[in-house]
Amino acid sequence: MCDLLETYGEAVSSALENLSEDEIAIYLNKRYEMKIWLHVSVLFFKWAYLYLRWRSERSEVIPNMIYITGDTHGDFSKFGNSRFTEGKFLTREDFVIICGDFGGVWDGSRRDQYWLDWIESKPFTLLFVDGNHENFDLLNSFPCDEWKGGKVHVLRENILHLMRGQVFNIAGKKFFTMGGAASHDVWDGILDPDDLDFSTTYWRMRRNGSMFRVKGIDWWPEEMPSDSEYAEAIRNLESVGWDIDYVITHCAPTSLLNKISTSYRSDQLTDFLQLIKRMSPKTKWFCGHYHQDMQITDHFQVLYNKIIHI
Ligand SMILES: [Fe+2]
Repeated sequence: MCDLLETYGEAVSSALENLSEDEIAIYLNKRYEMKIWLHVSVLFFKWAYLYLRWRSERSEVIPNMIYITGDTHGDFSKFGNSRFTEGKFLTREDFVIICGDFGGVWDGSRRDQYWLDWIESKPFTLLFVDGNHENFDLLNSFPCDEWKGGKVHVLRENILHLMRGQVFNIAGKKFFTMGGAASHDVWDGILDPDDLDFSTTYWRMRRNGSMFRVKGIDWWPEEMPSDSEYAEAIRNLESVGWDIDYVITHCAPTSLLNKISTSYRSDQLTDFLQLIKRMSPKTKWFCGHYHQDMQITDHFQVLYNKIIHI
């Protein structure tokens, strides 16, 4: 082997002796370029190998990642790479669920479009139940489809509204979804633009700093479920024997309201959710609405800014 290398070295030296200075410079340049290409190729194949190995290990161990968070109100910056670092490693088969007050289709403006485009550029699938602060005219204008056993509105290929009273089979787990809530920021009333004295009342209330909203502009009666949505929820829950793994809602059942704050009152929806809590007491439950992160019981969590992995 040593002889062979010695012979090769001598052959190269004698070949170089016959070359001019320019030819030697060209030869050395070429050799340098080849070295660089060799290093780049080795690095590329190393990186590709590590990436493919990570992907295959990941798909064997964690087929679907599911994250849950609270209200977004049309601002999705919490899903940016710096605040949600895991997000950039996810795929369309991984899910981030918002517990209502999505707000991404609020007035059809360029701001709405910007954020929808931005979410579409993310690698994961964004799911949400509706809250009370949604534009239901716009939300209900999106095409309805069936997805993983339940009904969804499809906003974009990876942005789906999980409709009320549905049971979805996501990553082998059953998720029951029931959006909606009664607005509590309308203490001074809800104005109807069709009323004759609307303009006078509106400006008087603005001047007085009243807490009010306007029907069809920033408040919609569909914030509370309809009788047919309650009936559909019961039908779907009965079809799975009330055996569900997770409940995703915007507001909380009646018995837990006092543990969140004494200022919240029960209503038809919270009473309905109380029935679900009684029928499925061990089910893990996540809700939004109250703009705070709180672990209420072992099974019940209120979310706002936190993005938790389940
Ligand atoms: Fe909210």
